[in-house]
Amino acid sequence: MEDLCVIILAAGKGTRMISNRAKVLHKICGIPMLGMIYRAAARLRPEEIFVVIGHDADRVRETLSGLPASFVVQREQLGTGHAVRTAQGELKKHRGDVLVILGDTPRIKAETLKKLVRRHRAAGGAATLLTASAPNPNGYGRIIRNGKGSIEAIIEEKDATPEQRRITEINPGFYCFQIQPLLKSLQELSNNNAQGEYYLTDLVAIQRRHGMKVNAILHEDFEELRGINSRKELAELSATLGKEKNLSLMNAGVTFIDPDITYVELDVRVQKDVVLYPMVALEGSTEIGEGSLIRTSTRIANSVIAENVKILDSCIITDSKIRKTTTVGPFSHIHSRTTVGEGCRIGNFVEVTRSTIGDGTSAGHHAYLGDAKVGRNTTIGAGVITCNFDGKGKNATIIGDDVTVGAGSRLIAPVKIGRGGCVAAGSTITDDIPPAALGISRANQVNKTALKDRRKGSKKD
Ligand code: UD1
Ligand code: CA
Repeated sequence: MEDLCVIILAAGKGTRMISNRAKVLHKICGIPMLGMIYRAAARLRPEEIFVVIGHDADRVRETLSGLPASFVVQREQLGTGHAVRTAQGELKKHRGDVLVILGDTPRIKAETLKKLVRRHRAAGGAATLLTASAPNPNGYGRIIRNGKGSIEAIIEEKDATPEQRRITEINPGFYCFQIQPLLKSLQELSNNNAQGEYYLTDLVAIQRRHGMKVNAILHEDFEELRGINSRKELAELSATLGKEKNLSLMNAGVTFIDPDITYVELDVRVQKDVVLYPMVALEGSTEIGEGSLIRTSTRIANSVIAENVKILDSCIITDSKIRKTTTVGPFSHIHSRTTVGEGCRIGNFVEVTRSTIGDGTSAGHHAYLGDAKVGRNTTIGAGVITCNFDGKGKNATIIGDDVTVGAGSRLIAPVKIGRGGCVAAGSTITDDIPPAALGISRANQVNKTALKDRRKGSKKD
């Protein structure tokens, strides 16, 4: 939208969260509240998005890193009006309107913000704000209308009379201001109120007193505009959005054995004919390809699972890729930029980290593959360990195609096993094995005979 900028207020501590982190960083189904609000605002394509930061400023900045946002630092959090005033120097560089929104109202839709700007521009007032009818208005500013039904003021709950507190039309905190009159009105804010803060909400009464037109639009859906102030509200909203997410995936052809106990974060993508068992958690930017199956108690974060993959029970897969038709688990741990190829088998109690596994390779039982590059159609026996750490740094193990690494072997990295090579079971391999060669490295066995007789001879007493 032209001649529009946005201010998101995100400097507050969020005292009621009882947290070391700024409130806006708390996540709802995997996305920080500020991220959700930013996305809605960005969809309006404003000229600039200002984010007022203060408490926990560095981490707040970080959540939007790489995105076009201008940060304004509010050193002391003296109220929402003061927060907007902090950005006034920046605002002066812009024409038209500014949309002011709060950092703790994460459910807001871009369509609603667009509607607010359009209605504001159509009405031609100095300010337009959304209101909502709250079943329980506790904690919200109340909307005071005059006999003609026009808005006169917003009264914060702590400053309200018992009678005003009975008003159920509340201020959800979405405002569109013409920039020029706003800059003037901001100078008139005072902190003479119950909380000793500069309230943004006082602008309504200030502008009305000057005979400016202020419009209030009643928005039907209170839930969309709800503010999050406590862990309880955070959990409630996460549960609601989680349910909605699961329902939308079911509508797109995903089977949930029990959607109530399956956790899928909002950015996760799941293709049709995927089956998700109870207590599966899919997090971050995870994608699950068509026809894949994820069994009980598995967590997958920031990973790409291709088509027709089976992830069996109790696996953890993070920051990795699994290609099609592979089977993983039960109890496998795949992490830190690992790629497992097509038609592989990574089995019971196998850990794979910072490694690439070629197509058709299997590691069925109790293995550790770290910093390894494993070729195609290779077999990693039970209990094989890449000894990748030498006390100082990590070293690579390179295993070629069609290799068999016998059970119980230790591969002391850096080490290479050539194509078609074989490691005899129980070996400790310290030198490279050439292609098609057998490496065997274990102590020769000595059998001490007549053990029984010797025991007899050494009787204690
Ligand atoms: C505010 C409104 C209230 C409204 C409610 C809706 C005011 C005075 N009150 O109250 O009318 O019903 O939101 O959810 O505006 N912030 C700053 N700097 C500050 C103070 C706050 O950036 O100095 C930010 C916070 O990070 C937060 C937002 O502003 O994201 C709202 O602050 P909060 O303290 O939660 O306001 P409420 O008491 O909920
Ligand atoms: Ca709030």
